[in-house]
Amino acid sequence: MSLANVMISSPPSNIVLETIHKRRSIREYLDRPVSDEVLSQILEAGFRAPFAAQLCSVIYTRSQDKMKAAGIGVYPTAPVHMIFFIDFCRLEKIMKHRGHEYGYDDMMAIWLGMQDVVLMIENLTIAAESLGLGSVLYGLTPLRADSIAKVFNVPARVFPVVGMSVGYPDPAENTEIRPRFPLEMAAFEDEYRHHTDEDIKACMIKMDEGYLAQGYYIKSRTKVDLVDKEDTIGFDRYSWSEHISRKFRSAFRRGEPLIDILRRHGFDLR
Ligand SMILES: Cc1cc2nc3c(=O)[nH]c(=O)nc-3n(C[C@H](O)[C@H](O)[C@H](O)COP(=O)(O)O)c2cc1C
Repeated sequence: MSLANVMISSPPSNIVLETIHKRRSIREYLDRPVSDEVLSQILEAGFRAPFAAQLCSVIYTRSQDKMKAAGIGVYPTAPVHMIFFIDFCRLEKIMKHRGHEYGYDDMMAIWLGMQDVVLMIENLTIAAESLGLGSVLYGLTPLRADSIAKVFNVPARVFPVVGMSVGYPDPAENTEIRPRFPLEMAAFEDEYRHHTDEDIKACMIKMDEGYLAQGYYIKSRTKVDLVDKEDTIGFDRYSWSEHISRKFRSAFRRGEPLIDILRRHGFDLR
């Protein structure tokens, strides 16, 4: 029996699995404040994630203006915003107290920091969901490292990974659960699956039909500009695989390379 069949025959069977399976990104929020108590609960839960070296810090704010000044365009109804950082500043101070000088490979350090940060975020996200909150991430946040450092007084060797908004979802939006690749196309027993054309088609069909059926891009009027050629795909055919392919095209690449920004913030990357 394939993994996909096993999944179908065993729906979420406890509260944790149910919470994970019903989570979706939320972009419209109720005008309802998130208390400090709730915030500290989800942050505590975030930091209960496994860690390599506790290389994660988070700054949270209720100020849309601060986020705007930092160059992060948050969804207008979102009440609380967070920025998650890889933080070497704190670790190096600890090392100094211990009389040790930092000398790690910074590329590997960033890799470990990233692992700490993303695990923390996922714990926090699920904890928020379990308390009736929703969230959405902002992936271009690292490109705003300069303005974030200014607005939030962030030192060198502390670098933003991703931003997030959190709040109580507006039920009027009725956000649907987005599809994922078929499980057997992404989870492999014993060895990698070298995807055939048929496999790739199966991935695309699952994602594209799912997103088109939900009218995801039509509703949000979201489309990545082609920049260098005529756009012949209307919203009726604009699907997930088209969207993601456009995002990763060379013509879409713009702005300063991330490695240069990281160097400016004190990381030694050769
Ligand atoms: C690293 C990361 C960056 C993201 N950046 C954005 C973003 O900038 N804007 C946005 O609306 N959603 C963003 N998202 C949310 C994704 O669009 C969303 O998770 C994906 O479409 C799947 O939908 P779901 O979370 O509802 O299952 C981001 C998600 C991740 C994990």
